[in-house]
Amino acid sequence: MAGIRGLFIPGPTNVPEPVRRAMDIPMEDQRAPDLPDFTLPLFHDLKRIFKSEAGQVFLFPSSGTGGWEAAITNTLSPGDKVLAARFGQFSHLWIDLCQRHGLEVESVDCEWGEGVPVERYADILAADQGHKIKAVLACQNETATGVTSDIAGVRKALDETRHPALLFVDGVSSIASIDFQMDEWGVDVAVAGSQKGFMLPAGLAILCVSQKALAMAKDAKLHRCYFDFADMIRTNKDGFFPYTPPLNMFRGLRASVDMLLEEGLENVFARHHRLGEGVRRAVAAWNMKLCAKEKRWHSDTVSAIHLPDGFDSNALIRHAYRRYGLSLGLGLAKLNGKVFRIGHLGDLNELMVLSALGTVELVLRDQGVPIKAGSGVGAAIEYFHQTGTALAVAAE
Ligand SMILES: Cc1ncc(COP(=O)(O)O)c(C=O)c1O
Repeated sequence: MAGIRGLFIPGPTNVPEPVRRAMDIPMEDQRAPDLPDFTLPLFHDLKRIFKSEAGQVFLFPSSGTGGWEAAITNTLSPGDKVLAARFGQFSHLWIDLCQRHGLEVESVDCEWGEGVPVERYADILAADQGHKIKAVLACQNETATGVTSDIAGVRKALDETRHPALLFVDGVSSIASIDFQMDEWGVDVAVAGSQKGFMLPAGLAILCVSQKALAMAKDAKLHRCYFDFADMIRTNKDGFFPYTPPLNMFRGLRASVDMLLEEGLENVFARHHRLGEGVRRAVAAWNMKLCAKEKRWHSDTVSAIHLPDGFDSNALIRHAYRRYGLSLGLGLAKLNGKVFRIGHLGDLNELMVLSALGTVELVLRDQGVPIKAGSGVGAAIEYFHQTGTALAVAAE
């Protein structure tokens, strides 16, 4: 196929040139005496991405799922109770992982398209007078449904009920793209992955852990070896690792953190909001519905879009890929065949989003979905134009 292909799945995302170049280097000595000159500042700057002074960052060669596992096995014991909500495939999978590790999960089932049920959490925590719940799980951005949840609200529920449970946040598809405040929100373990907002290939689970959670690790009895915080802490303090580290990924991570900090985190979040809103304007112009049920839950990194009844989103996604080289996200689990997802995160700008939206329109027309060609792109253009001008004027 001539020309470029479009990667509009919600991760892995496009890897920017500086990050790719940073990784394309000869192999390095993992025990070189000057390695800490590179690794210690990297740990330090990663804390800035999590907005944490007090926390400790861990880098595990793994995907995000390994980060979930590290969070629970380092802090909990078999039979411990955790509170979680299931409102999409990823919140479901984290619950499944907890259960497979022998934890008791109090799971609140929500409609897919809703976010963390903060009021229900507050009621359950208030009723848990004996403090049997040891950890509260919250998926900040449910990638299957395009729903962002209120993590500050979950912290408030814990504080107002004076509940001592740890707060674990899945930020795999939000951290480094959507605001995340580790210390301010009192998060105890935050889990990110390399292949989304960090704009790297898959292969790193990036965690930030509070001192409270690290203290719990001393008594936690769940089995762990590869993901043991203690081994990492022992070696990381001098800038080294307990096993062979993926140094090329770390070099890429350095470049990605530099890009994020240079743009400025708040600008990164604003850019994601702007691009996400452009996609949402297009969806509205197509007369289609987002899976996210309310505006407060709209995700700035991914939109899950319901196709009208009678159309198969798998056929649409296949056609987009085969005919135009455009990758869109599948509808996962019970949303399969019903929704398609547009990932709008990472190394992305208006040019790319408009090109994807135009191609989605072409695909929709090819599939016979009743939309007016240009309607969605036009709405996004208008939004970008209006807000872009306003931004430029404000900056002058
Ligand atoms: C919100 C969320 N959590 C967890 C995961 C699992 O991460 P991984 O596939 O990197 O193991 C994903 C993957 O897409 C995700 O989107």
